[in-house]
Amino acid sequence: MSEIIISPSLLSANFLQLGKDIEMLNQSEAQWIHIDVMDGVFVPNISFGMPVIKHIRQATKKVLDVHLMIVDPDRYIETFAAVGADVITVHYEACTHLNRVIAKIKENKMKAGVVLNPHTPVSLLKDMICDLDLVLLMSVNPGFGGQKFIENTYNKIAELKEMISAKGSKCIIQIDGGVDGKNAKKLVETGADALVAGNYVFSSSNPMQTISELKNCK
Ligand code: DX5
Ligand code: ZN
Repeated sequence: MSEIIISPSLLSANFLQLGKDIEMLNQSEAQWIHIDVMDGVFVPNISFGMPVIKHIRQATKKVLDVHLMIVDPDRYIETFAAVGADVITVHYEACTHLNRVIAKIKENKMKAGVVLNPHTPVSLLKDMICDLDLVLLMSVNPGFGGQKFIENTYNKIAELKEMISAKGSKCIIQIDGGVDGKNAKKLVETGADALVAGNYVFSSSNPMQTISELKNCK
């Protein structure tokens, strides 16, 4: 099995010392950095946007994994490419023309993924799975860090894994929300390839070690 991708979520970082937190991530075993963009419409919270991402890009060579919790994300794909995103994930629930949005992300030379909220069935992706680089399964309702992990996520991972292999897709499975040292191993054993972790990493007294433990959890 290939290496598990760890994508610490900056939503739980200290925004007053963001540069310091990114430097810690640069020194860590995390391969990706997860960036949660929220518009206060699709989710009941507002986070940060392009100017902040532009500065993050200057501070790291890690893969910038941008999770768009915004309505009509197709309006901003070129702009996120311009500020340095490497991966963009858009919500199934936020896109009327999902196929078109995914194509636009790829045209802009980024990896493209679809996010499913906890209530959205995996089966809805069966006609798209071969076009995707990743699927992000939300294991909490999006909008906030530090929420409780939803156990049904394991069933969704298993179903998605089966779909990916049946269709011969190269798509990877990412999990976001409530990931910690207790559930990481089971998530990976069930089929997760990439884990997002915000609160668990940034509330740790030794975030670098916590990242290493998550990465080596299997
Ligand atoms: C929630 C965000 C997550 C969040 C995860 O809407 O998409 O990326 O930062 O945070 P934790 O790991 O604290 O649940
Ligand atoms: Zn996220």
